[in-house]
Amino acid sequence: MRYITFALAKGRLAKEVMKILENIGITCEEMKDPETRKLIFVNEELKMKFFLAKPSDVPTYVEYGAADIGIVGKDTLLEENRKLYEVYDLGIGKCRMCVAGPESAREKLQHHELIRVASKYPNIAKDYFYNVKHQTVEIIKLNGSVELAPIVGLAEVIVDIVETGTTLKENGLNVLETVCPLSARIVVNQVSMKMENERITKLIRDIREYQEERK
Ligand code: PRP
Repeated sequence: MRYITFALAKGRLAKEVMKILENIGITCEEMKDPETRKLIFVNEELKMKFFLAKPSDVPTYVEYGAADIGIVGKDTLLEENRKLYEVYDLGIGKCRMCVAGPESAREKLQHHELIRVASKYPNIAKDYFYNVKHQTVEIIKLNGSVELAPIVGLAEVIVDIVETGTTLKENGLNVLETVCPLSARIVVNQVSMKMENERITKLIRDIREYQEERK
């Protein structure tokens, strides 16, 4: 039997995902060691491997088949637009992609002014402004702390994830428009889905049943 490999998006999400997997009998003790510098973890009994990757790299590992299954946010899937199967919405890590900025920017959005939009998600921002709103804008790619952009005058608005809204509030910014809701998804490599259909289908069914019961 060959190994089924999981790529998990590093961070908050990975911990929650490991808990779900544990509850359906998929455990990986060595992954829990907070001191470990190991990158890949193996469960020999189940013939499964797990690794943590930067969220934006998860769809890449899955598309190329280096991982059979990936668990990652819908934000990353939309931004990376990789060829893979999105098979299940875990319903965790719920948040939304928003256009945010100071209240004064609301009018500029309404009047379709040529504004600057800063985002860690340039593709999502471009798709929203060009294809949904039909507004020409200049998109500026940033790598984090995007809320700074309207404060220091780099851009009029941002396109970013809003979960509790605390970051925006503490920086005097508001949600101006909602782009889409987000949550964690299970994705599968297209070849693995055919070659390992039975094991992968059972796994997804177990996760789904467990998640549905929790609702
Ligand atoms: C994300 C996002 C917002 C914040 C939203 O940032 O980019 O800044 O969380 O959460 P809230 O609505 O609950 O305040 P993240 O922590 O991923 O760091 P980043 O600034 O590097 O993007």
